[in-house]
Amino acid sequence: MPQSESADSGTSAAAPLHMIDIIRKKRDGGALDAREIAFVAAGAAGGSIPVDQLAAWLMAVWFKGLSLGETRALTLAMRDSGEKFSPVRLGKQAVDKHSSGGVGDKTSLLVAPLAAACGLAVPMISGRALGHTGGTLDKLEAIPGFRTDLTLAEFEAVLRKCGASIIGQTDELAPADRVLYALRDRTGTVDNPGLICASILSKKLAAGLDALLLDVKTGSGAFLRKVEDCEFLAALMVATAEAAGTRTVALLTDMGQPLGRAAGNWIELVEAVELLRGERPARSPNTNFDLRELSLILAGWMIFLGLQAESPEAGYQRAEKALIDGSALRAFFAMIAAQGGDVSVFDDPQAFHKPGATAVVEAWETGFVAGMDTTALGWAVRRTGAGREKAGESVDPHAGILFHARCGARVERGQPLAAIYATRTEMLAEPGEILRKAIHISKTPPHEVVALVSRVFTRDAAEKYLMGL
Ligand code: URA
Repeated sequence: MPQSESADSGTSAAAPLHMIDIIRKKRDGGALDAREIAFVAAGAAGGSIPVDQLAAWLMAVWFKGLSLGETRALTLAMRDSGEKFSPVRLGKQAVDKHSSGGVGDKTSLLVAPLAAACGLAVPMISGRALGHTGGTLDKLEAIPGFRTDLTLAEFEAVLRKCGASIIGQTDELAPADRVLYALRDRTGTVDNPGLICASILSKKLAAGLDALLLDVKTGSGAFLRKVEDCEFLAALMVATAEAAGTRTVALLTDMGQPLGRAAGNWIELVEAVELLRGERPARSPNTNFDLRELSLILAGWMIFLGLQAESPEAGYQRAEKALIDGSALRAFFAMIAAQGGDVSVFDDPQAFHKPGATAVVEAWETGFVAGMDTTALGWAVRRTGAGREKAGESVDPHAGILFHARCGARVERGQPLAAIYATRTEMLAEPGEILRKAIHISKTPPHEVVALVSRVFTRDAAEKYLMGL
């Protein structure tokens, strides 16, 4: 996958650049130099390169790949496409986590307040729904009044007050990613390691972090399906971020089924708040035990990387304490209010939930849930109205899917497997059809128990991995 050539500063610094030449060069398998890559990033951010040319370039990159040097150059050029945030004035370690995209992955809603409650600053720049995966910004915007488009001054004010703030890429921060992210979503060019790395890290490096935790998804719901591609992505991102001066660790985590029970917008927020309110799910395939556990593991690593604990395990203990004593919930509600959101909707979350149409999918036979095609489930969620078909469209905050049975669960024929919440009645059928094909029921329980975290990439591990390629 990686090409060996790296992006150097180019030989003909003064020659004018033309997007058509850069597209043809990449299409033909050439390696772009840093100047050409900076030209693309600046042109995407500033609007000087037409969208059709950017789309053609993305597709050429998708087919031909980016070398390590090109990936590094694109990451830095996208970071530098806008202003940078400086968290130094906050007087705390600034630490964030980012995931490579998942279904039902609402861990950001949990780890941001958990880490903030444990003394870190969490300046989180997130994305919207991308491909089959959900987006933290779309989820938060289900709260009436919640603003994800803060200015940098407002971002800093919320961080000072609450310890955490979650916003999107803006005209100020990582604007190249704002444009390329939406375009990749529409052109089928999301699942490329170099583009994922540059997209994630450009926003994170623009936020001036001291440390970063990356959650790289593996399994049927990950953008990259093969384990070796996920390992490569993890190593690539750790090495790229470390080279840019940010302490970084990546965990490979399971996305072989939706994380927790809810996948959508409002319903994911409700699930996160229930856990922040102290709900303790039993360790069972029918509960969202996995979501609580993974959130605490991720928060534990953030707290460790932010120098507030001796080890990730000690960080986990601190995070769990903040969950149990309610300080993380208070940090979350304070952040929502500071960003204009109406916290009172959480007084009675069910009363606020007003989907246009609802259907229940029942088990079609008795047996065990043996596996799921989680990418297909993600597309099903999107087609309920929870995701967008065109850029700039609004999403339905109330649409989504609630899973009643998860991998390993025993189900009886006729038992509810999932509830589908759609914008309109005619939008119920397609997600229902997808679900019936994507969930596998078998007579025997799945024999493989999949670990929530399968591998950890520190800087040393990442460098060793990349050198071994
Ligand atoms: N998250 C991002 O911000 N970008 C990607 O490309 C994938 C996940």
